[in-house]
Amino acid sequence: MENNQTPKKRIFSGIQPTGNLTLGNYIGALRNFKLLENEYDCLYSIVDLHAITVRQNPAELRKACLRTMAIFLASGLDPEKNIIYFQSQAPQHAELGWILDCFTYMGELSRMTQFKDKSAKHADNINCGLFAYPTLMAADILLYMTDLVPIGADQKQHLELARDLAQRFNAIYGDVFVVPEPYIPKVGARVMSLQEPTRKMSKSDPEDTYIAILDKPEIIRKKMRRAVTDSDNMVRFDPENHAGISNLMSIMSALTGKTMDEITNEYDGRGYGVFKDAVADAVISVLEPIQKEYDRISADKAYLESVMVDGRERAQSIAYRTMLKVRKKVGLAPMKL
Ligand code: TYM
Repeated sequence: MENNQTPKKRIFSGIQPTGNLTLGNYIGALRNFKLLENEYDCLYSIVDLHAITVRQNPAELRKACLRTMAIFLASGLDPEKNIIYFQSQAPQHAELGWILDCFTYMGELSRMTQFKDKSAKHADNINCGLFAYPTLMAADILLYMTDLVPIGADQKQHLELARDLAQRFNAIYGDVFVVPEPYIPKVGARVMSLQEPTRKMSKSDPEDTYIAILDKPEIIRKKMRRAVTDSDNMVRFDPENHAGISNLMSIMSALTGKTMDEITNEYDGRGYGVFKDAVADAVISVLEPIQKEYDRISADKAYLESVMVDGRERAQSIAYRTMLKVRKKVGLAPMKL
């Protein structure tokens, strides 16, 4: 029966194992991974090669990689249905990254907003890896003949480059790569900082600006109460003029499925304290079960290790096949299996 069905479409997405994964990562990306796991053939990667574009403490990075894998699993991703693995353990990412570098223009990479932001943040270490970060991301995606890429809005520009590179390469060598589409959620594609709600919530910012997936309930309540809003107690969705309250409404809407109108009707005029507590409750009810699973899974090192080994083998075998084709197309000597 299965053999007669058309093959499932492919999904690839990645998350950097740096700092603490945030509620933004969860709403913008991670929770969609789970929603898509039955319908698609999915690879979810902990992108450790991307993480080293910024200087990392090696012991910390190793721990952060395992922590991120445990969070993936705790969010409900089934490691049999999905390929969950560390990017650096499939060396073909770096190999294809290099090849794609040779098809990417300096001007394209100079325009990337994440590069501009990160070079401002790490002015003492604007390295070539940081510059070529989007090409490696394109390699991640194209390596697996990916149809769909679940991401938050901040990664859209990078996805467009991946599409451009696939088309450019195909135009020269014939149909080699699938041209991927983004999957960006309607609500929650850009969760904003709790302290500066005109900036996106980011794991590399100070702790009081974000909610971490592993934050305990009392911390979540505290951070939520301190979130910047206006002082007029109106609960209305107007991101341009009232970014703080609109951000909290988006979080509420993304987690409960309520519309902005329903939220306004329920909370307008009752005071921001009441609304912030309600948002905190919604966040806690989603994150607490994940945290319990996380505690259980992260204590089981042998299990994590087995997911890691299985994931890298399955990822490598797909990546290897793509590279056979790519190497042949560009004229590189063939590799033996
Ligand atoms: P990263 O690690 O910064 O974020 C992981 C995912 O979370 C989304 N995200 C957000 N969504 C909504 N609101 C936010 N505040 C927020 N912050 C982050 C991101 O859009 C992303 O989907 N370059 C990528 C990692 C990557 C990748 C890939 C993604 C490497 N290769 C291939 C997709 C496909 C990044 O830095 O994500």
